[in-house]
Amino acid sequence: MKVILVNGSPHKDGCTFTALEEVAKALNEEGIDTEFFHLGTKPLNGCIACGHCRKHQRCVFPDSVNEFLDLAQEADGFIFGSPVHYAAAGGAITSFLDRVFYTDSGSGKQAFYLKPAAAVVSARRAGTTASLDQLNRYFTIKEMPIISSKYWNMVHGNTPEEVRKDEEGLQIMRTLGRNMAWFLKCKEAGIRAGIPFPSQEEGLRTNFIR
Ligand SMILES: Cc1cc2nc3c(=O)[nH]c(=O)nc-3n(C[C@H](O)[C@H](O)[C@H](O)COP(=O)(O)O)c2cc1C
Repeated sequence: MKVILVNGSPHKDGCTFTALEEVAKALNEEGIDTEFFHLGTKPLNGCIACGHCRKHQRCVFPDSVNEFLDLAQEADGFIFGSPVHYAAAGGAITSFLDRVFYTDSGSGKQAFYLKPAAAVVSARRAGTTASLDQLNRYFTIKEMPIISSKYWNMVHGNTPEEVRKDEEGLQIMRTLGRNMAWFLKCKEAGIRAGIPFPSQEEGLRTNFIR
């Protein structure tokens, strides 16, 4: 089984990565494979609502979004990490996730259906819980079980060295990794025991006018 850890920071080895690395180590110790996916520093377009994904099952922009969606199809779980920028998730990961989840819905591929997810945030000081709330909303619209830890998933620091001093933050990350590993093993055992996926209804789309 494999979990993809998305580093939504422009810093490949920064604070967000330091937190994700701790989650990955705990997952590995529990026998779960991990793969890092770095958003890096290239500009990431937001969704332009062009509808290309509904016709072609891909995002119109040939970039890391489509690359990630290919990997996501085969992955068993996800950790999305972001630095806190102005008390919100970073702009790059926000654009990335808007397009990832919209393309997944448009394509009908269901790469995230009932796969566990968690968000992890890194901040110098404030805006962490607002950022976590923001990121968790992507999971709850896609039927993804959210894995939690013994506190909200945050580390504090302005440098990786400072994050490594946040002992409670790192413990939260290790607990998160172990909890996700446990969930993945339970899900696999359930599938092996013949527990079927829930029946799915045809989607209804209403609004408050029609
Ligand atoms: C544009 C920008 C906005 C930021 N806004 C906040 C903020 O609202 N609250 C906070 O505590 N830290 C803020 N920071 C600091 C980062 O969240 C913090 O240094 C984080 O740990 C960096 O993670 P990284 O090394 O993975 O990029 C901001 C940093 C930048 C560059």
